[in-house]
Amino acid sequence: MPERKEIIIKDDAYSLAGTGADLVVSAALESVQQTGRFTLAVSGGSTPRAMHRSLGREPCLSQIPWPGVHIFWVDERCLPGYDPASNYGRARHDFLNRIPVKEDQIHPMPVDLPPEEGAEKYQDEISSIFKIGGNDFPDFDLIFLGLGLDGHVASLFPGQKVLAEKEKWVAAVKGGDPDVRRLTLTLPVLNEAHRIVFLVSGKDKAPAVKTVLEVDEENLPAQMIQPRTGRLIWLLDREAASMLS
Ligand code: 6PG
Repeated sequence: MPERKEIIIKDDAYSLAGTGADLVVSAALESVQQTGRFTLAVSGGSTPRAMHRSLGREPCLSQIPWPGVHIFWVDERCLPGYDPASNYGRARHDFLNRIPVKEDQIHPMPVDLPPEEGAEKYQDEISSIFKIGGNDFPDFDLIFLGLGLDGHVASLFPGQKVLAEKEKWVAAVKGGDPDVRRLTLTLPVLNEAHRIVFLVSGKDKAPAVKTVLEVDEENLPAQMIQPRTGRLIWLLDREAASMLS
């Protein structure tokens, strides 16, 4: 694991969500001040939902420089937005409907296409915002990741060949819970981020957190998150951190 990783342990899920939201505010203010924009990629699942709700309420609503914000997804299940398992659908309900941004600042993954086509289309959409070509990788200002019980991250599951992807920015995969077709950002893109925050909560995640942070030879997808130059922050609640040495 890179030596630059920072571990922050909060008392409970509520303060975890608040700290995650605070990280969004500080990264957004810094990024917009430096480059005029803030590119954020969010994960799905249940853990980030409390933080997402905070982004759609005060004080975040007034603190974040929304006109410069672009919101992307780390991964998406290839399901319609109304499906309760849709990461975009849940985010729309949790905060997108409450934040003052234009539709062209929100970039859901295109799940209405055959997955391989959707992956290519999403790379084009990312490219149009970052204004870079396929030889580079987009450097997101902040990426939030969850941790699966099996050590997966995004929709990068153990043993899948997508873990060896070195060129594509977005890949079409299948797996997870629900076990469906998915689109996911690939490791080169994730590791190009300026800031990566793992947001992990709950006792059930404690074994995976311990293995990922303390058992290097497991070579789990979450252990392949090694930002090339960016910050790696593990934001845990006390239960998720309870098995760490
Ligand atoms: C997804 C997520 C996935 C998630 C982990 C943790 O679309 O499934 O991006 O990688 O972050 O599975 O999920 P929970 O937060 O629900 O435990």
